[in-house]
Amino acid sequence: MAEDVKIEGLMYEAPASQEPASKEPARSLDPAFTQEDLAIDTSLRPRFLKDYLGQGKVKESLSILIEAAQDRADCPDHILFSGPPGLGKTTLAIVVANELGANIKTTSGPAIARTGDLAALLTNLEPGDVLFIDEIHRMNRSVEEVLYPALEDFSLDIMVGKGPAARSIRLDIPRFTLIGATTRTGLLTGPLRDRFGIAFRLQYYTPDELADIVRRSASILGVCVDDEGAYEIARRSRGTPRLANRMLKRVRDWAQVRADGHITRDVADQALEFYEVDEAGLDAMDKKVLEILCVQFSGHPVGLTTLASALSEETDTLEDVYEPYLMQQGFLVRTPRGRQATPRAFQHLGLQLPL
Ligand SMILES: Nc1ncnc2c1ncn2[C@@H]1O[C@H](COP(=O)(O)OP(=O)(O)OP(=O)(O)O)[C@@H](O)[C@H]1O
Ligand SMILES: [Mg+2]
Repeated sequence: MAEDVKIEGLMYEAPASQEPASKEPARSLDPAFTQEDLAIDTSLRPRFLKDYLGQGKVKESLSILIEAAQDRADCPDHILFSGPPGLGKTTLAIVVANELGANIKTTSGPAIARTGDLAALLTNLEPGDVLFIDEIHRMNRSVEEVLYPALEDFSLDIMVGKGPAARSIRLDIPRFTLIGATTRTGLLTGPLRDRFGIAFRLQYYTPDELADIVRRSASILGVCVDDEGAYEIARRSRGTPRLANRMLKRVRDWAQVRADGHITRDVADQALEFYEVDEAGLDAMDKKVLEILCVQFSGHPVGLTTLASALSEETDTLEDVYEPYLMQQGFLVRTPRGRQATPRAFQHLGLQLPL
């Protein structure tokens, strides 16, 4: 049971659970995500902008934002990062805090269940802190409303007392920077989106950028990989650093057991074949999506829920994890009548286009 606690002479409800804010989102949208991946992620995560590879434009804007704020001896505006899983949103939040030399407090939308939880978080901030809210689109609406004045005026409206005696009291909180991350900007409410001073949409990485990431990770992990081997892993990692790091580890294992431990292009190619990642970087699940669209539904548009149930997947996972890359690569399109495979998908699967 939550107890009422006293803060600066005011009564308000204590958070329901006192779970420490985790450094990672409680749930990764990527179904193949394991604890081992989490450990790799942490060791390979860049800590400063100079180690953060790719996303050139985003980095440049961020460095301007940070430098300008530091010049003014103020906090930068609130920042929103959006984009598919594994592109580096959490990493960037940590990088921004490190560049600012600020403390970062991490939580996620679903973890802030009640307004009291948010009030406790905000009143415990130190001036200049960074508050990182992952999966911010999954925050409860009533909690979100408490956040609005905190973001705009650095104040908190709290209801004190009950019934006719209830009154609202305004508390000042320290100036801080909110960094929000979301895989789905579309699900963010307008008022919340408007309160971010700057929003960045992270793009899939190019194979060259990912090859740099693979080489960096290989040197941290002590893996021997040549340029062509790194490029082959990069090319087949769905434009996603998290996958590139994961592939690197799997290919390393394969190279150790089936070859001499060196990752060359040939070794990477055979290993990725073994792990069922095809030439275009599509994994077994991606191909299943395309097969269902091309074969089962003969290339006709298919509604999201129908497609998700045909795959035994959640609609969220389908929309966040699989679709964006298939769309970006031109294998799938969203039409008003549903999801549809493109001629490129038929070609890739070696199928005839339906007449
Ligand atoms: N630009 C980058 N340079 C080097 N490594 C990166 C970069 N971006 C991400 N990574 C690596 O990819 C991993 C995943 O990134 P991160 O956890 O930040 O993704 P995310 O966008 O927060 O994903 P999710 O939506 O699942 O929370 C990191 O641990 C890091 O090792
Ligand atoms: Mg994250």
